[in-house]
Amino acid sequence: MYRTHNCGELTRKDIGREVILSGWIQKIRNFGSLFFLDIRDYFGITQLILYKELVKKAFFLGRECLIQVKGKVIERSSKNLNIPTGEIEISVCHINLLNPSLSPPFTIDNKTDGNEEIRMIYRYLDIRRNPIKNNLIIRHNLTLETRNFLSKNGFLEVETPILINYTPEGARSFIVPSRTHVDKFYALAQSPQLFKQLLMIGGIDKYFQIVKCFRDEDSRSDRQIEFTQIDCEMSFVEVHDVLAFFEHFIKHIFRKIKNIELDSFPCISYSDAIKMYGTDSPDTRFGMSFVELNDLIKKIDINWLKKEELVVGIKVNEYENIHEKIDFFLKKIENKNFFWIKYLHDKTLISSNQNFLSKKILKIFIEYFKALPGDLLFFSYGEKIKTREELGKIRLKIANFFNLKKYEIFNPLWIIDIPLLEWEEKSKKYKSVHHPFTSPKEEDIHLLENNPKGIRSKSYDLIINGIEIGSGSIRIHNKNIQNLIFKHLGLSKKEIKSRFGFFIKAFEYGIPPHGGIAFGLDRLINLLERHTNIKDFIAFPKSNYGKDLMIDAPSFLEKEKLKELHLPY
Ligand code: AMO
Repeated sequence: MYRTHNCGELTRKDIGREVILSGWIQKIRNFGSLFFLDIRDYFGITQLILYKELVKKAFFLGRECLIQVKGKVIERSSKNLNIPTGEIEISVCHINLLNPSLSPPFTIDNKTDGNEEIRMIYRYLDIRRNPIKNNLIIRHNLTLETRNFLSKNGFLEVETPILINYTPEGARSFIVPSRTHVDKFYALAQSPQLFKQLLMIGGIDKYFQIVKCFRDEDSRSDRQIEFTQIDCEMSFVEVHDVLAFFEHFIKHIFRKIKNIELDSFPCISYSDAIKMYGTDSPDTRFGMSFVELNDLIKKIDINWLKKEELVVGIKVNEYENIHEKIDFFLKKIENKNFFWIKYLHDKTLISSNQNFLSKKILKIFIEYFKALPGDLLFFSYGEKIKTREELGKIRLKIANFFNLKKYEIFNPLWIIDIPLLEWEEKSKKYKSVHHPFTSPKEEDIHLLENNPKGIRSKSYDLIINGIEIGSGSIRIHNKNIQNLIFKHLGLSKKEIKSRFGFFIKAFEYGIPPHGGIAFGLDRLINLLERHTNIKDFIAFPKSNYGKDLMIDAPSFLEKEKLKELHLPY
């Protein structure tokens, strides 16, 4: 028997018991004739007390050696009430070295001296540390809760293929050469999109899958090339059905995992989000929505601003110490089409453009924004799209710099009425904003011929604290509209047939109206736990350059293998 108990369960009530424990040595303290050892397993840490003679017999004892001990539970003289086993220790009578260990390359404790690279190379040692282990437990709890909730609500979990065909939509795909089919390739699925739609055609009323997706794109703090979606699809639904159900789902997850009650999720149209925050994924925790000033500028006749397509401003309410840091911050903003006004506590007004903004005009702005002494106003002007984008970035910089992103708040919202198509200058073609299977709003279909950019889609994004947590749409369930959209994306009849022929054919067999959504599981946990990198919740993540540092992937293939795959060698 390797153990009678684990290293996290013995307490006062076990005093006097004979026990066997197995665990890795976390700490050794040598008091001459006595040794104190902490041993660790998945469940916790237990302190051992050993006489020198016993340690001598036990060959070599070092950190991370795996030992098995037999002994008696006794009361500790100096107690540690921070851990469940802190009132007892084991007086060891037998020790057995189950496996020796090399000295670990970094400290395996809650706080470690290991940098990210070394921790990734030895990820299995990193996983021994509580912060990483606990993150995997949280991930398990979230997936379990998701499975239970969706199953109870009539969703069937179905696995869909990973090896599929390459389609030139969305991100880049990873390509897998076929050995048996010369010169042919699979692609790794970027998402189960078409298959979940086919499941709806197959009469599976509601589907979900916790599924690995693969996208050949640059990794970032919220992006991995291999990530997991909570992928869902429902038949006979419209936008409001999907939003209502999944709002209920997200609220349930927050309640169960974090004991947080979320308020109702507001819906903001895409165009309003851009107008108010300069982005389609606004973080609304710190206000500062945009105020458009063109009418005011015309009225008060500021010549040098009058001709600008857009003049827009934001107000930053007074924050502690803001004035001490503000000059440093302002120096960091490099944007020509930008000015600011400081309203100091003694009511003095200072601006970045003293030569162009008279005291009178500064006062008008202050009144228009209902600014109070201590507030700051930031302005941007120029071409509409760029100006909004720039001020959106400045707004985020301000929030980061002055710590306005309140850590304890979660602000979810739905972005709706997202454009269906966007013009891609490089390829001189329209591109789907969501994906080509997204339904246009019925009332906008007539714009397809003359103003495709103006068509709003039935897609929606769930944004929480400025992060896109989920995205989905009501799908096209009409063959003619689907073909029309493909045509607008620049696909010829031949291409439609070769890439999507099987899908269009399925439309002929009574396709139900349907729609769905996919949530980024890694992003959702990362947000819930208020971490800054999704890697923290992935057991074996890739580095920012898409490398697995532990197994050293990707790697070269031997000539023989290349030959077998019909690749140049
Ligand atoms: P989309 O491409 O928007 O939609 O992806 C859905 C959600 O998946 C997460 N996500 C990612 N997470 C980590 N790393 C990545 N590289 C990554 N890419 C996306 C985001 C995103 O909101 N088939 C559609 C969904 C649908 O229409 O039902 C889809 O995949 O949180």
